Amino acid sequence: MINKTMFKKRIKKLFRLMNDNSIAIIESAPKKIRNNDSTYRYRQSSNFYYLTGYDNPSAILVILKKKKKLTTHFFTKKPNKHDEVWTGSLPSSVKIKNLHGFDKCDYQEDFEKYLISYLENIKSVYHSWDHDNVSKLIFNKCLDKLEQRYRSGIELPSEFFSLKKILHKLRLIKDKHEIELIRAAGKISSEAHIAMIKKCKPGLTEKELEALLIYNFNVNNALEAYTSIVASGKNACVLHYIENSSTLQNGDLLLTDAACEYKNYASDITRTIPINGRYNRYQKLLYNIVLKAQEKAIEACVIGNTLQNIHLIAVKIICKGLIELGLINKSYKQAMDEELYKKFYMHNTGHWLGLDVHDPSEYKEDNEPVKLKAGMIFTVEPGLYIRAHKSVSKKFHNIGIRIEDDILITKKGPEILTSNVPKSIKAIEKLMVGSNSE
Ligand code: GLY
Ligand code: MN
Ligand code: MN
Repeated sequence: MINKTMFKKRIKKLFRLMNDNSIAIIESAPKKIRNNDSTYRYRQSSNFYYLTGYDNPSAILVILKKKKKLTTHFFTKKPNKHDEVWTGSLPSSVKIKNLHGFDKCDYQEDFEKYLISYLENIKSVYHSWDHDNVSKLIFNKCLDKLEQRYRSGIELPSEFFSLKKILHKLRLIKDKHEIELIRAAGKISSEAHIAMIKKCKPGLTEKELEALLIYNFNVNNALEAYTSIVASGKNACVLHYIENSSTLQNGDLLLTDAACEYKNYASDITRTIPINGRYNRYQKLLYNIVLKAQEKAIEACVIGNTLQNIHLIAVKIICKGLIELGLINKSYKQAMDEELYKKFYMHNTGHWLGLDVHDPSEYKEDNEPVKLKAGMIFTVEPGLYIRAHKSVSKKFHNIGIRIEDDILITKKGPEILTSNVPKSIKAIEKLMVGSNSE
């Protein structure tokens, strides 16, 4: 059942930010061709889903603000015999109107007719067009027709705004329904990681563990939120390693960055475990630096702080750790000033999380880092990646470590949505006891 009230509330929020005498036009994601006539599994545009909860292609939402009055008009594909046979029957316009609570619902062939009447005397247009959106082509056609009638005194739209910018701002603070879905996604992903950690042993392949993760997502009605990274040994030093084709070697670490999307909401987890169930001395030294950086960074996830500060906390701990281990042979000041740690820690400590795994909200507002507020969700994911190089002691070669959790900002402090997956050395080794004995 669609929660009409919740989606209406979101549309209302957008409506309040729109100028009077304006129209917002937003379109569903198209089906994407994989090759020839095969398509990828359909994924709705996150902005479209955020406003509508509608999960099919070929749909357009129009939001009208005229004399401060809100009207929503939804356009969808007409149910037809071909779809009924090949992909399943589509809902009728009446059904969609009732289910989603739009003011009006019609089929796409009528979009042009309605749009041209709506555009008369509209001043501002809000849109999120990329390239060849159907609504953009029809909009331009309508505009041409209206221009021909310009002399009869019609006002033509004169201001165009990016709907994306506004929606990304709204999406930054999650409402309680979104929080529940991200919490659920985090729980499913955590269980998948635990199952994978228990199963891990030398001789298995990265692919087998990837399959186990995806199996766990799928049986819980979830999909991969992004392509899983299951990286053993030196593969973990390649940040976006997704081949997942190596065999797990005794004595190596395994970095797994994998998580699901549940009802279109993402989670994002990384754990780094010893393939044989026990971290060696050098792995432990590096692991504890990353863990400390992550834990201290999470402690700082409080209202008013910024992701920039949180990154700096992680960086400082990592930089000190690298100096202590002799991996940086310069003073702390020099290492920080010259960003020498970037040789081993080259990415940011976190990103917004929501409908997209890298949720698209801005990180700065008026050129200042965005201050954390209750309802914001993001990741904290420091790492260390030590490639084999003659400048580095051999005992540290080919070790890649990242620890990543999903954090919700609350008035009471940070809530770790993925805390079920162990991350201390002791807890991980305990979970793995017996996993090699099968
Ligand atoms: N899984 C992608 C990331 O951690 O940002
Ligand atoms: Mn991440
Ligand atoms: Mn990740």
